[in-house]
Order: sequence, then structure tokens, then C-alpha cells
Amino acid sequence: MIQEIKTVVFSPTGSTEALVKEVGTALAGKLGVPVSHDSFTLPAGQKKLRSYGPDTLVVFGTPTYAGRVPNKALPFVQTLFEGHGTPAIALVTFGNRSYDSALSELHNELTSRGFSVFAAGAFARPHAFATIGLEHPTEEDKALLNTLVENAAKKVQNGNFSDAVIKGGAPVAPYYIPLGEDGQPAKFLKAKPLTDPAKCDHCGKCAAVCPMGSINKDNTDEVPGICIKCQACIVYCPKQAKFFHDDRFLSHKAMLEKNYTRTAHSEIFTGE
Ligand SMILES: Cc1cc2nc3c(=O)[nH]c(=O)nc-3n(C[C@H](O)[C@H](O)[C@H](O)COP(=O)(O)O)c2cc1C
Repeated sequence: MIQEIKTVVFSPTGSTEALVKEVGTALAGKLGVPVSHDSFTLPAGQKKLRSYGPDTLVVFGTPTYAGRVPNKALPFVQTLFEGHGTPAIALVTFGNRSYDSALSELHNELTSRGFSVFAAGAFARPHAFATIGLEHPTEEDKALLNTLVENAAKKVQNGNFSDAVIKGGAPVAPYYIPLGEDGQPAKFLKAKPLTDPAKCDHCGKCAAVCPMGSINKDNTDEVPGICIKCQACIVYCPKQAKFFHDDRFLSHKAMLEKNYTRTAHSEIFTGE
């Protein structure tokens, strides 16, 4: 018997967190059980181990980065979470290009950590750094979310935690290679955010929201650590002082804005 729902997210700019909370809260309402929310977005949440039993239902979400679970979040998925026959719903968001293998990868990782992934969904949302997908969530996205919650509730009520097979069980593909406007690979791994000194008042918000803890909180102009391009420092800066100036990164952004203007479709998998 499911006694509680726990939501768990990695969500630098908040879209995945909003989705996962919405699904978890709606399902908890249908099942009449309490829901609580957990996150490993920030360093504080990346240190504690979590272990769940069969009476907890976990709703787990990450964004899609390069067609996969963000590679710097993957080790946390693999080392911090342990299920013991724990039913789980796997969710990914993606920024209107494609979720490629992200949901399959999340499904496989959770399954190998003792979770029974009985429902899953990939939901299109606005892109974190390209101006595409602003129309999401569309009416179609919302209807799919409702169907996912209804189907998941039915499965729980029937004690049916059969596997939600993603894309026919297709294997996880290599990372998507970001392209530039010229169609060539755009290598921007080393790009880091810059700071406009005329706007920054050194409030420290960017350092506080960086999932990698990479921005020096005593001098926020400095980014000594790794940058995953998640955009949290840009989105949450109250002065709009952070920006990317890397040519290859901006070329990739422009390519996305040129080629991915159509409305991408969300998809759900409930094994039925
Ligand atoms: C570094 C990076 C890589 C991304 N790669 C993809 C991608 O391969 N496909 C896609 O459709 N969206 C991609 N996106 C967009 C995100 O998946 C989307 O904006 C997501 O909802 C962000 O989640 P969050 O708000 O929880 O951080 C990428 C975003 C970032 C920051």
C-alpha cells in the first residue's frame, strides 16, 4: 500500500521542479496520501543518501541536456538514491528540440537502483537558453499530464507496477552533439558566464543558485568551478547582470532558434 509520495528533482531553472511537483501533488490528491518535496539541484542536496521502501512512491525528474540526463547530475542519480521495490514515476523536461534518450536513461538508472518505474513522461517546456518552446505547456501538454496522473493512479490502485517501457526499450544513444549555425559541432564546454559590472551589485544570488557551487560567493565575477551552462545564474539574477559571450555557444543558440521553432510534442509511457 502506498503511504506517501516523495518528489525528487534536479532542476537548475525550475521547469522540471514545477512539473514534478504538479504530478506528485495531483497523484497524492487522487490517492489520498501526503506528498513531500526533495531536491538535489544545489550542493546541500547532493550530499545526503536517500533510501526508500515499497510503500513510498517516488516521482523523479531531471531536465534533458544534450539528449540525456545532465552528465554532471547523473553521478548523483547513481549514488544518492536507493529504492527497495520502490514504485517510481520518471519524468524529464526538454526545451522543444528533443528529449532523445534522456527518459530511457533515467528509467534505466532508476530501475538498476531498485525502483520499479511504472509510469514515465517527457514534457516539452521553454528552452533554458534558446528562445524556443515558449508556448509550452500547451493544452496538449496539460492533457497528457492529466492522462499520466490518471493512468498512474489506476496502476497504483490495481497494485500494477509493470514496467513503463520507453520507446520500445531502445538503448540509450550517445550524447547529442550541439551544432552551430554552420551545421558544424559547436564546442563550448569551457564557456562560463560573464558579469556586467554596471549591473551587478554583488548580492551573491548567482553563487547561491549555482548547482555546481562554481561561482565564488566572495567575488561573483569569478567562476573557478565547472559550468554546466544550466542558466540558473542568468535566470535568477535580480539585475540581469550575467550573460554568455562565447561565440560557439551563441551560434548553437542561434541554430536552435532557427531550426526548432515548431511545437515539439510531449510523450507519456504507462506500460498500457
Ligand atoms: C546545457 C543544456 C542542454 C540542453 N539540451 C537540450 C536538449 O538536448 N534537448 C532539448 O530539447 N532541450 C535541451 N535543453 C533545454 C532543457 O532541457 C529545458 O530547458 C529544461 O526544461 C530545463 O529544466 P530546468 O528548468 O528544470 O532546469 C538544454 C538546456 C541546457 C541548459
